[in-house]
Amino acid sequence: ETGAVTMDPGFKNTGACKSAITFLDGEEGILRYRGYSIEQLAEQSNFLEVSYLLIFGELPTAAQIEKFENDIRKYTLVNEEMKNIIDGFPKNAHPMGILASLTSALTAFNPAPVNVAKEDELYDAICKTMGKFLVIATWTFRKNMGYPLNYYDNTKGYVENFMRLMFELPTGPYLRNETVVNALDKLFILHADHEQNCSTSTVRIVGSSHAGLFASISAGVSALWGPLHGGANQAVLEMLEEIQNNGGDADKYLAKAKDKDDPFRLMGFGHRVYKNFDPRAKIIKKAADDVLAELGVNDPILNIAKKLEEAALQDEYFKSRNLYPNVDFYSGIIYRALGIPTEMFTVLFAIGRLPGWIAQWKEMRVNKEPIGRPRQIYTGAPLRDFVEQSAR
Ligand code: SDX
Repeated sequence: ETGAVTMDPGFKNTGACKSAITFLDGEEGILRYRGYSIEQLAEQSNFLEVSYLLIFGELPTAAQIEKFENDIRKYTLVNEEMKNIIDGFPKNAHPMGILASLTSALTAFNPAPVNVAKEDELYDAICKTMGKFLVIATWTFRKNMGYPLNYYDNTKGYVENFMRLMFELPTGPYLRNETVVNALDKLFILHADHEQNCSTSTVRIVGSSHAGLFASISAGVSALWGPLHGGANQAVLEMLEEIQNNGGDADKYLAKAKDKDDPFRLMGFGHRVYKNFDPRAKIIKKAADDVLAELGVNDPILNIAKKLEEAALQDEYFKSRNLYPNVDFYSGIIYRALGIPTEMFTVLFAIGRLPGWIAQWKEMRVNKEPIGRPRQIYTGAPLRDFVEQSAR
């Protein structure tokens, strides 16, 4: 109930760790950030406030959040030399590949590792990461589109800046759309942290060697990209579009997902921890209805997704394995309604997950956890003597 996971500290033996940041109950479908339910935070808070909560442990006062936002703004200007790196990527490079590289490149401009014993140095590194990561994340899209790169506008909010950085063109300003900004803010909150998932564990174990924050986050971006993890939100949309293009026959894809000889898996379904509904999926599903209605978007893909979910939840194979929609099943439908291109979906997951990665990295370093060194069960050859080549 306290949310503390009591296992070996810092990956020392079992790859598990203690953490006070996020509490998950997979059986009950419970998710809490620092003791606050995800439902309340998604409804009543905002992404920057939740970022502060995850990283520093308490909800900020009005003065603290104003200072945090202003301190992030100090670091939203990215070194112009980074543009030389962007120019070096091929035009069709996947945004997540560019983002992992750019994040790692930031290490060259901001020497690592961070001395976590100096609170102001750690705080600066955190604000720098929050500021620069958002900007370079959007540059991956601008590069693909052949558009000029945009700069953060310090007179506007963090989430609104994402839309500006993505879509503002020299031919005309980005016109703030309240529904869009609010929907994105909620989605970022829902993605902000999730205990020891694949990419967060990657950030912790890379950081446990005292690699810098940017280098550790870059490793997390690469882990998140995989279609079994954050890459699933893009794979879900591609799956739903394929179903739509094949006459909307959900049953055919359920059959494929159950066929052990077929590598196809129902993307956006199942979870290592949740053996009940993913609480985030429930919130996002409702938000999808609300956002598409507010934007006047009638996307048949949403109906296909609902039909697929309904069929899967009645199917013995899925029921017997406790397979439910996860955070990735509906998120892409909202992103699409907001005008976000499919190949940027996982980048948005990374932007949302950034404060969680930072919080977990900070916790591991401040707690002086040992270097991550998981062990193995050896299954190879027993001791044997070397035999000369000619004698073999
Ligand atoms: C995220 O860890 C996190 O918290 C991640 C995340 C976060 O916020 O960081 O929540 C974000 O990554 C969500 C997951 C996104 N990925 C997908 O939607 C990809 C599709 N899902 C599956 O690949 C799978 O469910 C995983 C990867 C999510 C979980 O894999 P597991 O833990 O190996 O699945 P499992 O052990 O629960 O599987 C049990 C059975 C197996 O069959 P049997 O061996 O019992 O016959 O269920 C089957 C699996 O083959 N199964 C599926 C399935 N997911 C599991 N069969 C068909 N389609 C699926 N989606």
